[in-house]
Amino acid sequence: MTTFFIDPDITKAETLSSEFYTDDKYFESSKEKIFSRSWQYVCDSDNAAIPGQLYPFTLLENFLNEPLLLSRNKSDRLHCLSNVCTHRGNILIEGSCNEKNIRCRYHGRRFDLDGKFVSMPEFDNVKNFPSKKDDLPEIPFSLWEKFLFVSLKPVAPVMNFTGDMCSRMSWMPLHEFVFEPRLSRDYLVNANWALYCENYLEGFHIPYVHNSLNSVLDYSGYKTELFRYSNLQTGISKSGEDCFELPDNSPDYGQNISAYYFWIFPNMMFNFYPWGLSVNIVRPLKKDLTKVSFLTYVWKESLMDKGAGSGLDKVEREDEEIVENVQKGINSRLYDRGRYSASRETGTHHFHSLIAEFMND
Ligand code: FES
Ligand SMILES: [Fe+2]
Repeated sequence: MTTFFIDPDITKAETLSSEFYTDDKYFESSKEKIFSRSWQYVCDSDNAAIPGQLYPFTLLENFLNEPLLLSRNKSDRLHCLSNVCTHRGNILIEGSCNEKNIRCRYHGRRFDLDGKFVSMPEFDNVKNFPSKKDDLPEIPFSLWEKFLFVSLKPVAPVMNFTGDMCSRMSWMPLHEFVFEPRLSRDYLVNANWALYCENYLEGFHIPYVHNSLNSVLDYSGYKTELFRYSNLQTGISKSGEDCFELPDNSPDYGQNISAYYFWIFPNMMFNFYPWGLSVNIVRPLKKDLTKVSFLTYVWKESLMDKGAGSGLDKVEREDEEIVENVQKGINSRLYDRGRYSASRETGTHHFHSLIAEFMND
């Protein structure tokens, strides 16, 4: 297998080699190397709000395909468990429900709401049974307000991924944000997931690709900050209108910020606007097919048609079109890799460096 190399010095670096996007073997190995070891946003914890509630979900459906189960026990503690029976592998819970315990409908094995083995018919003379291995495996998870993140084999604690975002945005009353299914939707993009992300990670293309967004943002004030496993782009409003009313405990107090674009490695975007939050989850399906879920959390709906946080559907279509074009170009025999703008592509360089780090590890 190729070792991916991205020079840490952006002025010398070349971009990620095309085979990362085009070769099935890297698409496959990225499941374990990148996605199992990083954190994924799953849902908000309202899905398992009441003691006894069970909420099954598939982690990155049609990609990682890991069946998991959120369970709130009788003492109101949340657990994230494997949703696979430790007997012969049946899926335990098939729909959201409220139960006293978890019972497998194949041969009747029971677990408590913490995932501990409770009972099993016809196993009286089985030796060394039950053991720890008969409990449901617990999966590390973390809550940021009501936003739930899980990781199968985290390389680092969740705070190393989300901490900079959490502290920077701590002044926002996230508990007041309401998920709006009618304003949320999925987009199918005919491109590799990483091409979608790396386009997001630079504002370089805004004047070329997004004319209406460009008319409200001050391009010269557009800024990227890099953290360990995340980064932040801030958009400054041209008019001074349509921006956040920042409190004096925000490090950005006094600036006309109209959007915070946080990206969490490898595939999550948390876009804060004066009206609320748009969470974008980039879900790989095939090496050249990606589903992007836009989840809309509204704080002040009356501000939704103003500034950088308005017309998101149009911006998305413009991004899709250019990214699908790049997907065609990346397959060319005559193209392998390019160079970076040292002033405008630090976010994309950061992303490629992390991909190389995870893929080579
Ligand atoms: S597979 Fe669950 S009891 Fe047999
Ligand atoms: Fe864009």
